[in-house]
Amino acid sequence: MPRKVNRGVDYDEAYDSYDDYDYEDDNDYSVDSPAKVEEPQQKVKKLWSCSICTYDNEEGMSVCDICGVIRNPVAGDFKNSNKKTAAFKFDAPSPDDMVSTRLQSSKLNTQGMFFFFVLIAVCCLDFNHSETFHGSSGSIEGHNSLKKGILSGQLSDEASGSSNPLKIEGTQGNADDDFSGQKQTAPASNFGKMSLSDKPGNSNALDSRKHKSTAEYHPDKWMLPDKANDTLTQLNLAIVGHVDSGKSTLSGRLLHLLGRITKKEMHKYEKDAKIQGKSSFAYAWALDESPEERERGITMNVAVAYFNSKKYHVVILDSPGHKDFVPNMISGATQADAAILVIDASNGAFEAGFDGSKGQTREHALLIRSFGVEQLIVAVNKMDVVGYSKDRFDLIVTQLGTFFRSCGFKESCILWIPLSAVENQNLVAAPSDARLLSWYRGPYLFDAIDSLQPPARDFAKPLLMPICDVTKSSSQGQVSVCGKLVAGALRSGLKVMVMPSGEVGTIKSLERDSQSSAVARAGDNVTINLQGIDLSNNVMPGGVVCHPDYPVAVARHLELKVRALEELAVPILNGSQVEFHIHHAQAAGKVAKILSILDPKSGKETKRSPRCLLSKQSAVIEVVLNTPVCVEEYSNCRALGRASLRAMGRTIAIGIVTRIIQ
Ligand code: GTP
Ligand code: MG
Repeated sequence: MPRKVNRGVDYDEAYDSYDDYDYEDDNDYSVDSPAKVEEPQQKVKKLWSCSICTYDNEEGMSVCDICGVIRNPVAGDFKNSNKKTAAFKFDAPSPDDMVSTRLQSSKLNTQGMFFFFVLIAVCCLDFNHSETFHGSSGSIEGHNSLKKGILSGQLSDEASGSSNPLKIEGTQGNADDDFSGQKQTAPASNFGKMSLSDKPGNSNALDSRKHKSTAEYHPDKWMLPDKANDTLTQLNLAIVGHVDSGKSTLSGRLLHLLGRITKKEMHKYEKDAKIQGKSSFAYAWALDESPEERERGITMNVAVAYFNSKKYHVVILDSPGHKDFVPNMISGATQADAAILVIDASNGAFEAGFDGSKGQTREHALLIRSFGVEQLIVAVNKMDVVGYSKDRFDLIVTQLGTFFRSCGFKESCILWIPLSAVENQNLVAAPSDARLLSWYRGPYLFDAIDSLQPPARDFAKPLLMPICDVTKSSSQGQVSVCGKLVAGALRSGLKVMVMPSGEVGTIKSLERDSQSSAVARAGDNVTINLQGIDLSNNVMPGGVVCHPDYPVAVARHLELKVRALEELAVPILNGSQVEFHIHHAQAAGKVAKILSILDPKSGKETKRSPRCLLSKQSAVIEVVLNTPVCVEEYSNCRALGRASLRAMGRTIAIGIVTRIIQ
């Protein structure tokens, strides 16, 4: 049974049509062999070398015959120039890549990127992923320590109406204390450092395929939902969108209106925000808890909060919109069943967010679609700034609508809601402002959430829980891991295997929404306290908690079906360095081979062994990762089979794992 009904990247319908690059010359060409032997007759011709792929083009060509990049007007005749142009590789990390992957910063990088963007020269830079970046954002320690295993804050008694949203923390903030107030002794470290144990007992880590087939699995009765007691379905709702579009303000206002933030708490946020000269961020402060977030006025880590609607127990995942924190956004949004994409309607702001090269609207929309999110509420926020103009709203709907269709969102699964978080228009009740009331007849946000279709869950499959966060307590000999169950169920006393180390531990206790719980099932976000696991061992974000008889696969060589994004600045080549993201795992690696280009409509192969993959093309590729990741083929488990590739601080391709090549 699929995790979600009709979810996933639909390669047959989803993609735009594109013109496959028509290569006239089928001779082998590799950027890995810059010392290309030229034919004698070519030597007499005047050639210019492409600054991106180094192909030697004839003088008359104004764009590169191979990758389509415009001839560099400044560099002139590269053949006669003393300037050496190196082949571009996706190994010049952006500052945010360095932050998120702990890459060593280099002064060369910024310069190299500048030259890359102006197409004068491209630097091949050292991609040393094992070192730590000590930049201004040094508190962010690698993707898998983005969420460090603590849920700070406690939801107080609902009856009292007092609540604080919980935060999936990075290494900064109050990362020293776990949710139970215990001192944290071992920081969650980088997945890149995760190694497969060579202990004999752990040999199953890489060899998981010899375990039982899931067809043999029969769930116990307690694992299936108890209709009598489980009245509300859990809905994980990612709040995404461009920086400053008002995601946290909208989330904070919604929580306040629904009684999840008390008047007293709100008063404190207002007072504190005013003292810091950030009055307009008062509602956002309910979600942005760390001093750095508050000072900078941006969300850095995904904040988690809860409220109940008529139909759902809604878990809000308020994502950061700033481009430097896309890896954090990915980590949170992979858990989403549906999403609210927040758009800033103000003049210039919508345009900036929608801008392909700088804005995050497109990237976030594509990413959530690639995570299998099909249902989207588009909250067109800050309508107060544009006088609740219908024309402005319509323009945004028209422009975004076309883009969403190209991402694979079905029109019938998108709800458009004009609103103002600051002026409380159209959030939990119909609008009161006459300007909006005069033309808008649709649902308000809270109602729209209830109109979403309930997500399908894999209750009857063996347990799979990708680890989002880890906290270790040596005093208690305990490891707490949290994440969303993508399949199966959990309860105290159950033996589970933690991959990729293959260690088996016992669940001592578990919590849902920071309340202790007897059972958790597919779709639930939980924190489980494990005993019997070696604390020094590699239990860390990006790992997966599994049924001991049905461990997840662990691999570093994968075949993927991907779609290169429109924003792809330079072609993907054999050997291109990429940052691979899958559920909460991240690994550096390279595109080992582009096997074929696919027709985006039919999915049929149109070209075998192409030289490069261009923007908007679909392809089958092989990637080889520097470190193994827990992964499943998409056909076995959608949540563990969706991947994205990033480079230069941007998502360059999204796709699915079609084959695990051991
Ligand atoms: P990041 O998390 O950093 O991406 O930002 P965000 O999308 O969470 O935006 P945030 O909620 O921090 O709000 C950014 C600014 O927009 C704040 O000054 C808010 O007061 C303002 N803002 C949010 N919603 C509205 C609105 O409806 N109207 C107006 N006028 N301003 C708003
Ligand atoms: Mg925010």
